[in-house]
Amino acid sequence: MNEDDFDLDLGAMRKQGMITEIVGELKSGKEATVYLAQAPSGLIVVKRFRAMAGRRFHTDAKYRQGRQMRERDARAFDRRTRYGRAYAQNTWIAAEHGMLRRLGRSGMLPVPRVIARVGACILMEFIAAAPGSERPAARLIDARLDPACAIRLHSEIMLAIIGMFERHVVHADLSPFNILLPDRESHAEAESAPAAPRPVVIDFPQAVDPRKNPNARELLAHDVEQVTRHFQRFDPNVVDNDVAARLWAKFEAGSL
Ligand SMILES: Nc1ncnc2c1ncn2[C@@H]1O[C@H](COP(=O)(O)OP(=O)(O)OP(=O)(O)O)[C@@H](O)[C@H]1O
Ligand SMILES: [Mg+2]
Repeated sequence: MNEDDFDLDLGAMRKQGMITEIVGELKSGKEATVYLAQAPSGLIVVKRFRAMAGRRFHTDAKYRQGRQMRERDARAFDRRTRYGRAYAQNTWIAAEHGMLRRLGRSGMLPVPRVIARVGACILMEFIAAAPGSERPAARLIDARLDPACAIRLHSEIMLAIIGMFERHVVHADLSPFNILLPDRESHAEAESAPAAPRPVVIDFPQAVDPRKNPNARELLAHDVEQVTRHFQRFDPNVVDNDVAARLWAKFEAGSL
C-alpha cells in the first residue's frame, strides 16, 4: 500500500460524506498511522494500516490458529508472495473492524465506536482527553496514579476484560499502551457531572475468539497479567483474583 492508495481511500471517505478533511496526525507506529479527521458529526479517528500490518499474523502462529483459510490463500501466505502479504494485511484490518463491531453492538463496553472500514482504513470514535477537546486521551502507560485510582482503574479494566470475554473476544495484546484514559478532572467539574469516564481499550487486530483459537486461554491470562502488573507498581495490593482462570472455567463449563 502506498500514498496513492491512501489518497484513494480519503477520496472515497470524502465522496461518501464521512469526513471533510484530515485535521492532523495523532500517532504513527509500525503498523498504522492514526489521524484525526473532521466528520459532519465532529472529530473522528482514521486508523490507516500500513502494508506491513499483519506481520504478527505472519510470524506468530498463535494469533492465526483456528482461522479458516482457503488452500490458495494459505499457500500464498506461507510463501509470503505479494498476494500473501496483502492477504495478511487484509485479514488484520478485517479482524480489528470485526472485533470492534462485535464489541460495540451492546454499547456497554469501553471501546471506540466503529464507524466504517474504507480500504486500508478504519474510521472510529475519537477518544478525547475531555469532551470537545482535540487532544487525545492519554495512554495508561503515561499516567501517574495514586493507589486509590490504581485500584479503581484496575477493577474497571478487569470488568472490561470480562465483558469482552462474554462476547468471545480476547484482546491478546492488552497492555498500558493500548488503554486510553480520558481526563477525570475535566469531567468532574460540573456538579451534575456524569460518572468519571472509564478507561477505553483500543487496538484489536490481533484479538482472538476463544471458541476458535486454541491459544485463547494463554492469551487471556497474559492480558490479565500485563495489566495487573502495571497497576501493582502504584499499589502492591492490586490483585487479579484469578479472573482469567475463573472466566476460562465458566467458558469450559459452557456457561459463556
Ligand atoms: N480511537 C482513538 N482515539 C484517540 N486516540 C487513539 C484512538 N485510536 C488510537 N489512538 C492513538 O493512536 C495510538 C496508536 O493506536 P493503536 O494502538 O490502535 O495502533 P498501533 O498500530 O497498535 O500503534 P502502536 O504500535 O503504537 O500500538 C494510540 O496509542 C493512541 O494514542
Ligand atoms: Mg497499539
